[in-house]
Amino acid sequence: MGHTLFGALGLFSLNILLYCGHAQDALLHIEPNWSPLFTGEKVSFICDSREGNDTDWNYSFSRNDHLFTTNRTENRYKSSSLTRGDSGEYQCVADHKIRPVTRESNKVSLTVSGVPRPVLTVSPSWTSPGDSVTLTCSVEPPSAGWRFFWYKAVPDMSSTNNYYTFELLAGGTTGTEQDSYILHGQTHTAGYKCRAERGDPVFYTQYSDVKFVWSGGVNPAASLTVSPHRLQHFSTESLSLICEGNSAEWRVKKADEDGFVLPCSYWGEMTGSTCNTDTRASSGVYWCESETQSSNAANITIHNPEEAASSSVFLVPLVVGLVSGVLLIILLLLFLRRYRKSEASSLSRSQRTNQSPATDHMINQGETQDGHYASLLHGDSCLYEAIGGSEEPEHGAVNPVCSSHSC
Ligand SMILES: *[C@@H]1O[C@H](CO)[C@@H](O)[C@H](O)[C@H]1NC(C)=O
Ligand SMILES: *[C@@H]1O[C@H](CO)[C@@H](O)[C@H](O)[C@H]1NC(C)=O
Ligand SMILES: *[C@@H]1O[C@H](CO)[C@@H](O)[C@H](O)[C@H]1NC(C)=O
Ligand SMILES: *[C@@H]1O[C@H](CO)[C@@H](O)[C@H](O)[C@H]1NC(C)=O
Repeated sequence: MGHTLFGALGLFSLNILLYCGHAQDALLHIEPNWSPLFTGEKVSFICDSREGNDTDWNYSFSRNDHLFTTNRTENRYKSSSLTRGDSGEYQCVADHKIRPVTRESNKVSLTVSGVPRPVLTVSPSWTSPGDSVTLTCSVEPPSAGWRFFWYKAVPDMSSTNNYYTFELLAGGTTGTEQDSYILHGQTHTAGYKCRAERGDPVFYTQYSDVKFVWSGGVNPAASLTVSPHRLQHFSTESLSLICEGNSAEWRVKKADEDGFVLPCSYWGEMTGSTCNTDTRASSGVYWCESETQSSNAANITIHNPEEAASSSVFLVPLVVGLVSGVLLIILLLLFLRRYRKSEASSLSRSQRTNQSPATDHMINQGETQDGHYASLLHGDSCLYEAIGGSEEPEHGAVNPVCSSHSC
């Protein structure tokens, strides 16, 4: 009797195996199924025995072959907030409650990364009135399911630290599915940041750093004047940044080469609407802002006179050397041409046409080399053009080398 029952059960399961073969393995799903996941997100592991009623089976879940199941009667395991340590290879097993059938699932690997900070890029970063600007928010490593939110920096004049408050851009309460956002007719200098979110419960990325779009155009409601009126300065001279326009209160801001923004009080002194700097100024983009207005921006380069002096001490012999080198090569080429011409004229006409491609080739090589010198010398390439032009007016190929440097 017992034998017969056992045999019948064995035959039954053998039949299933034969009939369905490998396709009857259990299935493990992870929801949501995007990858990688980030620390703090939550997922559910769902085991599907792929036969009969869910309640006919007991389930167990494992990570890297270590069981972590707490309730065998549930086919679903909800994780708590994930940590990087939850990365691994997951599998589930379904055991039939009555029949001796065990189904192992596929293995699913899960990667948990640290909470991402998106990177915002603005293009173009300098605008003229009426230009459109594209903001792009990218989350690394790439992963699915994000919605993107866009914020504009609003100067907070009540804050002594010159902070910004951030205002969600119009239509942004539900975010955008695209990772880019177009600002139509961007006119004034402004800062932006972004963030992404996904899932239920909602998981938020960090905020991106603030990126500025600078206006090069004139805005009568807010303007910046640099005094002395130029964009190249020495760190030893004092510099005034003057704000004018429709506001009683102005702040002067500077973004350094890394995009780090500091107000005048950190590198100068604000007197009325003017920021005066002594020797603390450094290269960067400067602009004025009030609660409602922002000015054109100026990209000011500040040279250290000692560095400038030492580099010019080094530069003078270099320039002299290069100029004399170029002159020597030109003279040599001229001499070679003259020499070859006189040599060629003594040969027959047919022999000369055979030889000319080789001669051209040699001269072209010389030009390439000269072109290289010219690109090093910048301004001095004009000198080369003048020499090349007067000595060899029939040889047009010399001029394009120079014209690419717009002398
Ligand atoms: C599965 O079993 C449960 C509990 O025995 C029952 O309530 C449910 O209707 C069954 N579902 C199906 C699809 O048979
Ligand atoms: C396991 O899950 C079942 C179904 O959700 C539930 O009825 C039962 O109380 C749980 N058992 C334990 C020990 O949590
Ligand atoms: C199924 O799980 C329950 C609860 O853990 C347990 O009492 C029972 O023995 C299990 N049945 C089988 C066939 O593993
Ligand atoms: C400012 O000018 C410098 C030197 O020309 C340049 O390297 C830098 O990229 C400019 N900065 C911006 C924000 O355009």
